[in-house]
Amino acid sequence: MLELSAKIQDAQQAVKARWSKTPKVGVILGTGLGGFASQIVESVAIPYGEIPHFPESTVESHTGQLVCGVLNGVPVVAMEGRFHFYEGYSMQQVTFPVRVMKALGVEVLIVTNAAGGMNHQHELADLILIEDHINLMGDNPLRGRNDDKLGPRFPDMCHPYDRVLLALAQKTARELGIPAHKGVFVAVAGPNLETRAEYRMLRAMGADVVGMSTVPEVIVATHAGLRVLGVSIVTDLCLPDALEPVEIKKILEVAAKGGERLAKLLPKVIETLGK
Ligand code: HPA
Repeated sequence: MLELSAKIQDAQQAVKARWSKTPKVGVILGTGLGGFASQIVESVAIPYGEIPHFPESTVESHTGQLVCGVLNGVPVVAMEGRFHFYEGYSMQQVTFPVRVMKALGVEVLIVTNAAGGMNHQHELADLILIEDHINLMGDNPLRGRNDDKLGPRFPDMCHPYDRVLLALAQKTARELGIPAHKGVFVAVAGPNLETRAEYRMLRAMGADVVGMSTVPEVIVATHAGLRVLGVSIVTDLCLPDALEPVEIKKILEVAAKGGERLAKLLPKVIETLGK
């Protein structure tokens, strides 16, 4: 079997062969974020199936391509569709694209997701700027032998979410009149939503939002020395004493509304990063 570093190199070369710029920012687009990728110009969209060692996307709401191009003057790569642990991929597979982004030259990773809001102050489609996380997925992408060339054995998790980026996102949201709060994200394996007792527990642990992604990618980004900005869209309200069954259709509708907000916020943030 090929070493991880050799697989990363294969994938990086395949992308380079189709798009020669060096991206500064990498973006992982969660549910509802189609409006973001359409703003990328001079773009080349590479289906995941054409990038060596990329797993193929299985979820219907995700397209599965790497969009490479320029956004507000800044070279970016954006993942339209991500790999989830609940789909059966290993943590190493889920996070492989982050390794490839780093190899391409990315310095800042922006990770987005749809999440359940457990804080009473949240409203549907609000944006939560992630200030910290809790990993309850029961696995870790760094488990196994460590390649010291990719990052340290015991990466520090004191500030996985870059405080300068967080402040920039908060300021930009305020300027644009977009509702955004800071919050703690907890990741669960899924695919079922939580029981009322679980929401109560997660809230008591100190989390504001819960979702089934993002944390593996952020752990690997931290390992690789990338600066990270994480943003959740509150797609359902998870208040244990007033819990209603969620409909996936409704979650997708709310994600689309939050996605429009993110599609305004992120290009501005990226523009500032390019200065
Ligand atoms: N729980 C876990 N993941 C989610 C939720 C939720 O309530 N909403 C959207 N993703």
